[in-house]
Amino acid sequence: MSSTIDSILVENRVFSPGRSAVAGATVSGMENYKALCEEADQDPEGFWGRHAQEHLRWSKPFTRILDESRAPFYTWFDDGELNVSENCLDVHLENGNGDKNAIIFEADDGQVCTISYRALHARVCRIANGLKSLGYGKGDRAIIYLPMSIEAIAAMQACARLGITHSVVFGGFSAKSLHQRIVDVGARLIITADAQQRGGRAIPLKTAVDEALAEEGGDVVEKVIVYKRAGTDVAWDNARDVWLHELEAGQAETCEPVAVEAEHPLFILYTSGSTGKPKGVQHSSAGYLLWASLTTKWVFDARPNDVFWCTADVGWVTGHTYIAYGILAAGMTQVIFEGIPTYPHAGRFWEMIERHKVSIFYTAPTAIRSLIKASQAAGAAHPRNFDLSSLRLLGSVGEPINPEAWIWYHNNVGAGRCPIVDTWWQTETGGHILAPLPGATPLKPGSCTFPLPGISAGIVDEAGNDIPNGRGGYLVIKRPWPAMIRNVWGDSERFKSSYFPAELKGYYMAGDNAQRDKDGYYWIMGRTDDVLSISGHRLGGTEIESALVAHELVAEAAVVGRPDATTGEAIVAFVILKGQLPEGQKAEALAQVLRDWVANEVGPIAKPRDIRFGNNLPKTRSGKILRRLLRVVAEGQEVTQDVSTLENPDVLKQFTGVY
Ligand code: PRX
Repeated sequence: MSSTIDSILVENRVFSPGRSAVAGATVSGMENYKALCEEADQDPEGFWGRHAQEHLRWSKPFTRILDESRAPFYTWFDDGELNVSENCLDVHLENGNGDKNAIIFEADDGQVCTISYRALHARVCRIANGLKSLGYGKGDRAIIYLPMSIEAIAAMQACARLGITHSVVFGGFSAKSLHQRIVDVGARLIITADAQQRGGRAIPLKTAVDEALAEEGGDVVEKVIVYKRAGTDVAWDNARDVWLHELEAGQAETCEPVAVEAEHPLFILYTSGSTGKPKGVQHSSAGYLLWASLTTKWVFDARPNDVFWCTADVGWVTGHTYIAYGILAAGMTQVIFEGIPTYPHAGRFWEMIERHKVSIFYTAPTAIRSLIKASQAAGAAHPRNFDLSSLRLLGSVGEPINPEAWIWYHNNVGAGRCPIVDTWWQTETGGHILAPLPGATPLKPGSCTFPLPGISAGIVDEAGNDIPNGRGGYLVIKRPWPAMIRNVWGDSERFKSSYFPAELKGYYMAGDNAQRDKDGYYWIMGRTDDVLSISGHRLGGTEIESALVAHELVAEAAVVGRPDATTGEAIVAFVILKGQLPEGQKAEALAQVLRDWVANEVGPIAKPRDIRFGNNLPKTRSGKILRRLLRVVAEGQEVTQDVSTLENPDVLKQFTGVY
């Protein structure tokens, strides 16, 4: 499937790390990065074994590192034992950091509450003791359905402390999705809240739990623990429901961590696959934590006085690895936020960076693009109106960041001095895979740069053969790494067929297309299922989107393919303008301007056949554009699929005009 269009992306702007980013960095300079890569290449097991010893505390030391005998069901450090919560909390108390702030929580209404490592440890122990008193322990599975809160992190850590495998369900998911996950994972227990506060409103959570449990199979759940967040009325089942504060009351503030085998499942997190049913991605304890901790130290270059802020929700993998686990394991202070970026005004993120003196800010391109739009619409929301001088590092995750948004982020948020770490990874990879190291890697806007040390990434054709630089192909990881997905919960066959297709030589297949440029920089071209085939030429929808967004009138764009009898697929672009159509300009004429623009930016082959204008794109509540729905719209068909995960289901009705 190699691309017939060579070097679609030519990016000549290179941003080398400044002196302050290099000085004292965990990995300083490209030579040190390369030395680590070489060490890992020459002796992978020695490399991982060394890090596992240096970065984790073991209750029982491991003697084996990697077991490949049941590939692709790899195991790591499998005769060792540890406790994840002990590694995230107890170690800091013992190292004299108990009084350091672990979490600065900012509520939707702006109230702030902080908790030290010592106090968080006590809170986690109380919850764990409460769970124990109800008879839960190692081998059980719990669903966590909570808003962004200290309680959510404490609940995850309390499960980890007892060896309970958790499955966090994002608070924006419906009762139906929740039910599906409860049944699939076989949860004995749910930890939820009465409601969540977002954008000035209390949005019920417990009602969704009640609804989900009333459905077939919901009776696997014995207890529902409820955090009183909003004080809203809730229906109550005396035999089943327990208030969190009542469960915690009178519990001891210490709780012996339960040592678990390295491979014990720490969590199962559901993610969408190419088919309808979400996959339960199963992660290990030791291998996962090792990579969460190591990538925090490398990619975020964790320093003792940092204030880290990741805007993701704990319901997603980013919130697991870079909020609940990696950041705590590294002993950092972090901000967590309950609300939304536009409430009470679109400068909220910048205001919070100023208020909490955030030094590392990690967010998604979709947030950046919508804040660019907001700051253009209302000047007061522009980052220049806030003191962002505490920032030293910016991050991006979740989708390709188009170079224009990168440059805006770099100039307006980072004042031209903060490196941007564009981190490519997935729920399945456990942690960052392709990412720059801020004290080492020269950056190119829009590229996630290079594989991290120990990661043997590659780009291959459909037979698993390496593809030269400048050509597109399947992004694979050739050798196992400790944080990789262990299984699809309850579906080993799906695990094998989704990620290790026989024709790819046993490599882990990411499901993304990518290419390396002449300098070896990786460029993600979108999911394999998003790739368009136009007259036999393969094009990444991402590139066309990036080109469209680079036009001065365009705020956002999503591109999908629609079947075409002559050319295979025709490109359909859904375009959101920054403002209204310029006076006197007709949609038809602007569509032509944009077509020519794309032809100029990418090539005539990439010209959208149809352009549809609207006010916003259909997104999940986590901000992912739902292209599969756009594909249905592009084909002129009625959307009959489940749209319950859409932030605003009516969004699909607006794209009526075709130009
Ligand atoms: O297509 C890639 C895209 O997001 C996918 C993984 O999604 P998920 O499992 O939800 O995890 C998102 C957070 C890690 C990938 O297959 N993706 C993620 N990060 C990037 C990205 N695409 C381009 N650049 C990135 N930095």
